[in-house]
Amino acid sequence: MQAWTFTTGFGFGNLALQDRPTPRPGPGELLLEMRAASLNYRDLVVLRGQHGRAVQPPLIPLSDGVGVVTDTGPGVTGIAPGDRVCPAFFQNWDGGDPPADLDSGRLGGPLDGVLATHRVFPAAGVVPVPDHLTDAEAATLPCAGLTAWSALMAAPPVRPGETVLILGTGGVALMAVLLAKAAGAAVIVTTSSPDKAARIAALGADYVVDRGATPDWAAEVRAATGGVDRVLELGGAATLPDAIRCTRTGGQVILIGNVTGNRAELFLPAILTRQLTLRSVTVGSKQGFAAMARAIAQHGLRPVVGRVYPFTEAPEAFRAMEAQAVFGNICIGIGTGRTA
Ligand SMILES: NC(=O)c1ccc[n+]([C@@H]2O[C@H](COP(=O)([O-])OP(=O)(O)OC[C@H]3O[C@@H](n4cnc5c(N)ncnc54)[C@H](OP(=O)(O)O)[C@@H]3O)[C@@H](O)[C@H]2O)c1
Repeated sequence: MQAWTFTTGFGFGNLALQDRPTPRPGPGELLLEMRAASLNYRDLVVLRGQHGRAVQPPLIPLSDGVGVVTDTGPGVTGIAPGDRVCPAFFQNWDGGDPPADLDSGRLGGPLDGVLATHRVFPAAGVVPVPDHLTDAEAATLPCAGLTAWSALMAAPPVRPGETVLILGTGGVALMAVLLAKAAGAAVIVTTSSPDKAARIAALGADYVVDRGATPDWAAEVRAATGGVDRVLELGGAATLPDAIRCTRTGGQVILIGNVTGNRAELFLPAILTRQLTLRSVTVGSKQGFAAMARAIAQHGLRPVVGRVYPFTEAPEAFRAMEAQAVFGNICIGIGTGRTA
């Protein structure tokens, strides 16, 4: 088998394609022949060595991927060779409240990730994916897809007729547009260019604000809606105050991302006097993944894949993620994976 590995450090200079013996599944485990992987913003943070002390080389990167079961160890039931599954982002979160040691169960750091031709996982750590998806589409679900699902469906779930504001058009945001529309919500999206605005409108967004042309995008959202019911706050420090401004009294701000930085300055009366709920989301559990997979199958949803790189060109996929030049998820085809 082959695996991309951060060898003795992080950064492109330490990312190498290694030959390794193909692992064999032990009791309760299964062997996956990987078919595709997908990148998230977090994978860039890992590449830059900025993910904190718990994430250390040697490490196989990337949390999001899909594979086909080719072998099972003793004691595995309910899953068999030929099944197509995604390893869960949090290997240690079945459902309900997250465990106290949640961070120790993440794929792509601290646990080895999916950028390999073969990987062994506990059978309890994988979730079946909808048949209608290509391998590349399915590979986007463990982190990007499930984060969008959790932001919309964790209690209280979004209801038909609600207005949801989604910041940006990254992997989480695009899946959130699809899921929010399927749930019957009105969807508003901010983005950075007319080209992306046209694409997100074609995907079903009801109202798009080009934040490049409209720096005070919050005023425009407020004027158009009177205040949204829910914001998926992906921007971080620079966008959180405006996200709060856009939200109706009694509405929810779901804290997800920090692409613009970590230290936000908030005017507390704008929160304290308006009965707002600020809550964070951290991807989601295996039960959440299974529920999302059912909804995706029911509605025939297809995650947006922007570009697929061959396995041997994985570093180019990281470079494309850094450049933020691709609309849609950046994926990597592995082996015989069906990516189109
Ligand atoms: N809490 C969790 O569980 C969780 C899970 C997944 C991701 N995240 C976080 O969520 C964020 C997005 O992740 P991702 O993987 O979807 O990232 P991504 O695919 O790299 O997309 C990032 C998007 O952010 C938008 N953006 C950039 N600068 C912005 C700004 N100044 N204001 C508003 N939007 C801006 C861009 O969209 P436009 O050009 O269209 O504006 C860009 O496409 C990251 O911070 C990531 O760490 C958190």
